[in-house]
Amino acid sequence: MTVTINTLFDEDMIATRVSDLAREIADSDPKDLLVVAVLKGSFIFAADLVRAMHREGLAPEMEFIHLSSYGAGTEGSENIRILRDVESDVNNRDIILVDDILESGRTLSFARDRLKNRGARSVCVVALLDKPDRRKAAISADYVGFACPDKFVVGYGMDMGHAWRQLPFIGYVVPREDAEPGGTEER
Ligand code: IMP
Ligand code: MG
Repeated sequence: MTVTINTLFDEDMIATRVSDLAREIADSDPKDLLVVAVLKGSFIFAADLVRAMHREGLAPEMEFIHLSSYGAGTEGSENIRILRDVESDVNNRDIILVDDILESGRTLSFARDRLKNRGARSVCVVALLDKPDRRKAAISADYVGFACPDKFVVGYGMDMGHAWRQLPFIGYVVPREDAEPGGTEER
């Protein structure tokens, strides 16, 4: 199916916002800092954020937790599965928990509670995008990149059915069922 990707946040907007977030995090003066990125969707955001944090004088260590709440489609699910857990000791550390989108909040509240239960001193939630109208769990982000309209977004690490993670910008998919089968995507 040919689809059009409409740009929501372009590369410059993202870069500016990521630098601002890193500065705000640096201003909070975290100690023994560990950044935990929730895979897969946050991988590009987290990579840019830790480099921006470095430019602000921080020296975060980096960890990953791979959680799954969505299949290959766009429907949410009640269940969170751990596909890969954080390996480092989190005891007494300030954690920056990074994800692409805070939607129902189930993914991030699961990850936050898990890190707290393992003895983290603080867990600070950073979401690139926030969809507050969709919230089901009692959680809000300490830092938000952008408020996101109620659309399914892709790019900058985020996928739809495993596609579009590589886009350097954030956009939303507009299906074009009238298009020729096998056609290429447009932007
Ligand atoms: P939550 O547990 O409902 O907050 O789900 C958040 C997770 O769902 C995100 O980390 C994404 O992996 C995925 N997700 C939610 N909305 C979108 C979207 O618009 N595009 C791509 N992934 C999404
Ligand atoms: Mg995710």
